[in-house]
Amino acid sequence: MKKIKNVILSVCCGVFVMACSGGAKEVRKADYNIVPLPNEIRTAEGNPFLLSKETKIVFPAGNDKMKRNAEFLAEFLEASTGVKIRITSEQPDKNAIVLSLDAPDENSEAYRLQVDEKFIRIDGASEAGVFYGIQTLRKATPVGERISVAYDPVVINDAPRFGYRGMMLDVARHFEPVEFVKRFVDMLALHNINTFHWHLTEDQGWRIEIKAYPKLTTVGSQRAQTVIGKNTGEYDGKPHGGFYTQEEIKDIVAYAAERYITIIPEIDLPGHMLAALASYPELGCTGGPYEVAQTWGVFDDVLCPGKDSTFIFLEGVLSEVIELFPSKYIHIGGDECPKVRWEQCPLCQARIKELGLKDDAQHTAEHYLQSYVTARVEKFLNDRGRSIIGWDEILEGELAPNATVMSWRGMEGGTRAAQMGHDVIMTPTSHCYFDFYQAEDTGNEPFAIGGFLPVEKVYSFEPVPGILTDEQKKHILGAQANLWTEYVPNAEHVEYMAMPRIAAMSEVQWTQPEKKNYADFHKRLLGLISIYDQQGYHYARHIFDIKTEMKPDFEKNALSVTFSTIDNAPVYYTLDGAEPTEASTRYDGPLFVSADAQLKAAAIRPSGKNSRTFSTEVQVNEATFKPVVLLTDPEPNYASSGAEILVDGLQAVNTNFHSGKWIGFQENDLVLTIDLLQPKTISSAELSNMIQTGDWIFDVSQIIVESSRDGKTFSPAGNWKNDTEEKAPRGEMLTHTVTFDPVEARYFKITVKPSIIPVWHDGRGKRAFLFADEILLK
Ligand code: ACM
Ligand code: ZN
Repeated sequence: MKKIKNVILSVCCGVFVMACSGGAKEVRKADYNIVPLPNEIRTAEGNPFLLSKETKIVFPAGNDKMKRNAEFLAEFLEASTGVKIRITSEQPDKNAIVLSLDAPDENSEAYRLQVDEKFIRIDGASEAGVFYGIQTLRKATPVGERISVAYDPVVINDAPRFGYRGMMLDVARHFEPVEFVKRFVDMLALHNINTFHWHLTEDQGWRIEIKAYPKLTTVGSQRAQTVIGKNTGEYDGKPHGGFYTQEEIKDIVAYAAERYITIIPEIDLPGHMLAALASYPELGCTGGPYEVAQTWGVFDDVLCPGKDSTFIFLEGVLSEVIELFPSKYIHIGGDECPKVRWEQCPLCQARIKELGLKDDAQHTAEHYLQSYVTARVEKFLNDRGRSIIGWDEILEGELAPNATVMSWRGMEGGTRAAQMGHDVIMTPTSHCYFDFYQAEDTGNEPFAIGGFLPVEKVYSFEPVPGILTDEQKKHILGAQANLWTEYVPNAEHVEYMAMPRIAAMSEVQWTQPEKKNYADFHKRLLGLISIYDQQGYHYARHIFDIKTEMKPDFEKNALSVTFSTIDNAPVYYTLDGAEPTEASTRYDGPLFVSADAQLKAAAIRPSGKNSRTFSTEVQVNEATFKPVVLLTDPEPNYASSGAEILVDGLQAVNTNFHSGKWIGFQENDLVLTIDLLQPKTISSAELSNMIQTGDWIFDVSQIIVESSRDGKTFSPAGNWKNDTEEKAPRGEMLTHTVTFDPVEARYFKITVKPSIIPVWHDGRGKRAFLFADEILLK
């Protein structure tokens, strides 16, 4: 019965059944359209190569790396197909996968994969090249239980676009155990990534054993508790800690090296050093006491470069680091180092004087003091045969002579560094920060730092700025994704934030830009996801979700809603809050919602990879879907889609002000007019806004309502003043209602004024941000 079913299936999806020694067996076709897409795939004539338990993997005798490569391939093929394959260095006359180093290429990571009826040959320019050929064969192989695989004849010629293909994991904010770090390295290898940037030290924890400074781990690796959310003032009361012994680090470095991954350790200096200061308070300007940070952010207490003992410390730490990590590069951080302690510290000021550092038009003497620290550390490492990478802040002051710049605050720093002849790794927040949200509907996401970085946006990243000359372009070594873990407390969550965005990044790093195509990538991604499933990875499933666009249509006076999916999957919806099923209304074009509704929609696919249910409440009042005009400009970064979001009938569901559901003002008051299209009797106006004191967003100070019959002359209707002042940090959404004597009018003008930031806050005396979502007239 099963056999007949399989034969019928073969018509549509390439599954057929062959009789082999053990009886009937399912045979499935390999698909070379993988992620990252190889740069050349040429199909060839002939019969397919059939993988069976008689197939052998052949490696060149005496080459241990190639033997390990052969073992990897056997492990991968067994995991995917259930077929156990033997490795040997004796070449049979057919039915073998032959690994060799017979494809010389100036790019040492290049490989060629050739398939004919008798052999699959993977020839690499180096063992690393062979490893990528193996990853390609693995990804081309379908995943199933006890299947046989038919590989159609093909020639694949492939090499990566960039020599630096990185991903950073912060194990300092939240520690990850050795076993998970190895699993993470395996995940990187699956995506052809060759560099693991390991962020090992932070304000919130020091994670690497340094024998000369044992308190870094006995004291610095432990924090007493962790703040809940974004510096809310509430704590979890649970100690958090952990570190890697030097033996564990050597083991992980070797594990990564077997997979052709170089680990670049980061010792972030001179800022982000509170854990070290808590361990050795004499290294700070004030002498402390300090504690390992329990909150997130940037801290004023940093290393004191006025003291010689600081450099003795750094050289002691780095001496041990370079013994553990054979990488060419050591990352020395350099980001987010406040200068306030240095400005006040007699020893720092004496150092500034001794070095003759002066303020100039661009930078302060203290910026040049950081440059001095960086250059001194660079010299120490250069003398020992290593090079430094630093975050783009190392451009402030004077760039250390041989430094590679990691450009994170946009592309500008990296562009400038390349123009100055320095090497650059591009990792701008806009496309590379995997701690950002993956969905606009953040209410259904685990709490994240903010932002919005879906797979498609990662995919669109182009690391080489067009304005560079060809010579300068060569300085762009590659691209990297960064995963900071303030809000990523465990391994499953790391996987959720990393995959499948890392698949999109892998194609940015590997594939030539003219070959990239998002819709095509999405189809190929489904194959990679079968490996994610097989590995039990906790990947994010937004790619299966519905993309929703909602905007008020001022002609129809309704909310226009469009749904789409990347694969044109059938979408079903309901308006009464019921869970959509295949029996619900099927979406077939823009939907117009003009009355209160609880809209739900879901993509339901034959494969069972359904979307999550999209859900939103539409609430209609007199102002909803009515023409609205802003009379003042919002902050350019927080303009969202403009005034229309204030009358779209949709209330923001959380305080993520990057979600596009909020509009933000600071310089200007929010002033707008709404045209109700005909005179209406109105007696209240309601504003929804938010407070997020950590982001300088405070409650509003005043709401003024005016009305007009002609849209030209306005008269006062209502006026509300806020007489409470924030006393402490907090974040929440809130609404304010201004009630007034009923007034009949067609036009209403609303003015909303921000507060002045109170004295307990860093922004004291400045105008706060005002974030508004909806304005209601009733
Ligand atoms: C960084 O994100 N602070 C490099
Ligand atoms: Zn100092």
